[in-house]
Amino acid sequence: MVARVFYKSNTVTLYEGDCLDVLPSLSERSIDVIFADPPYNLSNGGITCHAGRMVSVDKGEWDKSKGTEADHAFTTEWLKACRRVLKDDGTIWVSGTLHNIYSIGFAMQQLGYKLLNEICWFKPNASPNLSCRYFTHSHETVIWAAKSKESKHKFNYQLMKQIAGGKQMRSLWMDIEVEDQPQDIWSIITPSREEKKYGKHPTQKPIALLERIILASSDPGDAILDPFTGSSTTGVAAIRQGRSFIGIDNDVGFLEVSVNRLKEEEENIRTNPRLIAKLT
Ligand SMILES: C[S@@+](CC[C@H](N)C(=O)[O-])C[C@H]1O[C@@H](n2cnc3c(N)ncnc32)[C@H](O)[C@@H]1O
Repeated sequence: MVARVFYKSNTVTLYEGDCLDVLPSLSERSIDVIFADPPYNLSNGGITCHAGRMVSVDKGEWDKSKGTEADHAFTTEWLKACRRVLKDDGTIWVSGTLHNIYSIGFAMQQLGYKLLNEICWFKPNASPNLSCRYFTHSHETVIWAAKSKESKHKFNYQLMKQIAGGKQMRSLWMDIEVEDQPQDIWSIITPSREEKKYGKHPTQKPIALLERIILASSDPGDAILDPFTGSSTTGVAAIRQGRSFIGIDNDVGFLEVSVNRLKEEEENIRTNPRLIAKLT
């Protein structure tokens, strides 16, 4: 598929196409931070539990595994293309589960990225395991890496410490609101109905998670890229924090949801620019 600009504004560019086609068209060393939520390769006919009912785990054709070797080759290719567009001091965050995270980490090491942190996003309200033959899958991993071992990566340490109530921010995230919870643990609830009002994406990330990532590793005015943008949660968080955004997806339906979300966020910031300051 040929890449085309699907939506453009002062701060946002959305491309429709395969990220392997679009990434080579972006300028080398132009991006400060990348967040990637790639296919997890877990849609292979399994079952899960949703709202007390047994449902298919399948997310869509895009999430089907093509076999270990082919999946790793794809992971390596898009990570390589991302590394080309990343500034020398830029960083990349990639989320995944046991289905793909080891391939991602290995490919990063093969390509010369420097692994910085492995974040555990704990989900205490995870679906029960219906087969009763495994532990309940109740977390996702997010790897944070710098472009190379020479990179002077950006980490807004003091801001994270401030958010953590004066303590060092830890590498454990929780997506539940716990009374009197320790502030140094990230409390991130799953996307609310409000976040899905323009349509549902089967693997939509919470805005709060992306805001934390963007605040930790970039400054206002920086360029943020998401090569698997889906409903553009990364873009919404980027605009809200005064950064620019480039998103790529090969599904028109998801891009339409993205445009609605991004336009609303741009309008919110345009009519109330002080929102940016308040949120940081
Ligand atoms: C895990 S979802 C991302 C969800 C996103 N983080 C959100 O909050 O909505 C992965 C997305 O990658 C897209 N995708 C899969 N393969 C792709 C490819 N080769 N190039 C571009 N997009 C792709 C899918 O259409 C899907 O929307």
